Amino acid sequence: MAGLIDKHIILGISGGIAAYKTIDLVRYLKEQGSDVKVIMTKSAKKFVAPLSLQTISRHPVLDNFLSTQTESSMPHIALGKWADLVLIAPATANLLARLAVGLANDLLCSLCLATTAPIAVAPAMNQQMYKAIATQTNLNTLRDRGVLIWGPDYGHQACDDIGYGRMIDPKVLVEYINHYFSHDDSLNHLNIMITAGPTHEALDPIRFFTNYSSGKMGFAIAQAAADKGAKVTLITGPVHLSTPIRVRRIDVISALDMKSAVMQEIKNQHIFIGCAAVSDYRIYHSSLEKIKKDKDILKLVMVKNPDIVSEVGSLIEKRPYVVGFAAESKNIQQHAKDKRISKHLDLICANDISYLNQGFNSDNNSLYLFWNKGSVILPLRKKRVLAQQLIREIINLYNENN
Ligand code: C5P
Repeated sequence: MAGLIDKHIILGISGGIAAYKTIDLVRYLKEQGSDVKVIMTKSAKKFVAPLSLQTISRHPVLDNFLSTQTESSMPHIALGKWADLVLIAPATANLLARLAVGLANDLLCSLCLATTAPIAVAPAMNQQMYKAIATQTNLNTLRDRGVLIWGPDYGHQACDDIGYGRMIDPKVLVEYINHYFSHDDSLNHLNIMITAGPTHEALDPIRFFTNYSSGKMGFAIAQAAADKGAKVTLITGPVHLSTPIRVRRIDVISALDMKSAVMQEIKNQHIFIGCAAVSDYRIYHSSLEKIKKDKDILKLVMVKNPDIVSEVGSLIEKRPYVVGFAAESKNIQQHAKDKRISKHLDLICANDISYLNQGFNSDNNSLYLFWNKGSVILPLRKKRVLAQQLIREIINLYNENN
């Protein structure tokens, strides 16, 4: 990972159970050529031994202003100048609150005020604490200030809850840092909007219609575009995926929500990529009360949802370059070509869903691309790599059209 060679990274550790993972995090960063100095909060030291981190990082672990171990009498200033990046992992709800307010009541928070280096936080906490309005407000404040928010992930928690709040895996954090340092700004003149994931169409307050879309392809495309500096807006249905780095994410539930989020900002976009598996139909009258099982036959009336990509394709004014997807199980080429024309798309990306190991809910995919003057096949590979190739193809075609 070239982006990590000779980088000075301050790792701030606050007191959460995920703190034990930082031993691996420091080890991976050192293996990639970075120099890492560790600062711990008082409570972090209850979760992981400073001596372990000192041994791995080969620097004294710092925890207060007045340590005899520090080379400087003002370590927050000296470290702030030394750092190329300050990463706080895990970042607890308490630490995020202190950062948001701008407290300087320990070495780590003081350093965050004293440094001009970029600051990244990897939140880790109980899912309900993460959802709390106070935590979300603090995260928004930090985001608005330019702090990078990496994670959290979804999954099982130490407290047995399930939800968002797990710290991102150390290996993935290392990838994030590498991305951060090696980013390319060649697409920074472009606004790209991407839809991803499934939609949920409510039947009653606790039931909905949906499909197996995982959102992985759309998220990988968003990451690939943001890695090249594009300003990416990702409008996603309900999925359990972390927000790609440097991507603005808007969460929606239903097809109607997705359409209104898209239309609100479409006129500022250069490229629109409709990757979401939008539900074709919704329940005509979703019930406000839970539907009882008192009938032997339940008849549901469904009504067609708006076709979002096609509405974007039909825009007359400020129409972006429009890319759609088609999941097909037979006659892929013909169906995709017809769909490109009927939906007014510039480019269509078709995938064959008759294979089990690709497409919907898989990590791999292959695509056939069709546009007005040509076609190309992108063979089976990891969605992350495929997304990078797809962005290259889309940008070449966009440039030919503009
Ligand atoms: O017609 P079909 O669902 O196969 O078309 C797939 C393409 O249309 C994808 O690009 C998908 O995001 C988009 N789509 C949409 N709104 C819908 C249905 C599909 O934007 N209601």
